Amino acid sequence: MTSEMVSLRRLAGLLTVGALVVSACSSGSTATPSAPAASGSTPASAGSSSAPAATSDLEIFTYWTAGGEAQGLAAIEDIFAKNYPGIKVTNAVVAGGAGSNATAVLATRMTGGNPPDTFQIHGGAELIDTWVTTGYMQPLTQFYTDNGWLDKFPKQLLDLVSYNNDIYSVPVNVHRNGVLWFNKKIFTDNNISAPTTWDEFFTAADALKAKGITPLALGDKDKWESLQLFEDILLSKLGPADYRGIWAGTVPWTDARVTDALTTMAKVMSYVNADHATLTWDQAAGLVLKGTAAMNIMGDWEKGYYTSNGWTPGSDFGWAPAPGTAGSFIVVTDTFGMPKNIKNQASALDWLKTVGSVEGQDAFNPKKGSIPARVDADKSIYDAYSQSAITDFATNELVPSEANGPATIPAFLTPITDAISVFTTDLNVQSAQSTIAAACTSTGACK
Ligand code: GAL
Repeated sequence: MTSEMVSLRRLAGLLTVGALVVSACSSGSTATPSAPAASGSTPASAGSSSAPAATSDLEIFTYWTAGGEAQGLAAIEDIFAKNYPGIKVTNAVVAGGAGSNATAVLATRMTGGNPPDTFQIHGGAELIDTWVTTGYMQPLTQFYTDNGWLDKFPKQLLDLVSYNNDIYSVPVNVHRNGVLWFNKKIFTDNNISAPTTWDEFFTAADALKAKGITPLALGDKDKWESLQLFEDILLSKLGPADYRGIWAGTVPWTDARVTDALTTMAKVMSYVNADHATLTWDQAAGLVLKGTAAMNIMGDWEKGYYTSNGWTPGSDFGWAPAPGTAGSFIVVTDTFGMPKNIKNQASALDWLKTVGSVEGQDAFNPKKGSIPARVDADKSIYDAYSQSAITDFATNELVPSEANGPATIPAFLTPITDAISVFTTDLNVQSAQSTIAAACTSTGACK
């Protein structure tokens, strides 16, 4: 087994421990699902469902509305419309990056007996701990077998969507979280190169600030965005092994390197736009696009945002790992799963077949900013940024994301998100650290 596989296995292990609680990240609301009535537990199989007869409808549930996201989804919908012209697709979309608003709506629908036919969900604890162990999802193992897919996805990704030897969703992509994006013209005009350490970042930020340019764009209206920034800083201070450990509950939140990460984040906050709490992630990316800010740290859905706005990677914008994180790759995978007791079982399987196909992944990922989940997808169609992500995914230490994951039990997500959100305004290192440490213990996320 390669070290990459070992780290992916650790990643899978991290993402499949946990409690049976739904966390609604930004709203702070939680719901505890209880399993639906027993029907629908038969393993799903293409074209031979035990659910109600297929109609000509399909309801999908997503939160992709920003530039790049919407285009990627539309590309899959176009393929679906071509291959299944008789099926009318309704997208029950709930805007809000990272599912910050969709999570609570989905929970209400699932627990209220009104599930969408298929929905977008991160592989890992968000899928497994929230919806699989609680009995809400249909296994797709037979469907994978029928379609000859068992060797078409990396085992490590399938591990993230599996439980008790059954597979429960179809990965459509691999996103990289924690990328530093920069406006090439601003960097060139100011003779700045991509900072590789936080010290270099602060030197560059001082130079930019002196010129009246906002060094770092941030839009944390939905809260997960500042948690995402914090996890990148945390990774830079802990390194990949202990970063995994902190989410696994084996490295304590009282560690001095956490203090260091929060102290660094407090300093970073002095270089961000004053209106950060009113902007979404893509509005923050827009500041870089417009040239009022030089940098943004975000997942590579931001590349989809830039290219959908006419920017070319390498000439209009550049990228680098977040300072201090070179050699690590924060993995996020978007997947679609199929709940029990849905109205349009056969159509849902047709949708899953489309998102899991080479054709679907080749259409979706170049627009979305992600790289394909399938091992046999066409890698030659990707731009310079995504080629770098393909290489790094194959060679880096793979680690999980809490902000787009979560990396640990879902119950911990709301308290840590809220603690970091408060921290972005009060900048109280001691208070944030003790609040997070206490939440880790009380939710059971710490061993
Ligand atoms: C992530 C998701 C991405 C992208 C991003 C912003 O959590 O995995 O696909 O949509 O949120 O919405």
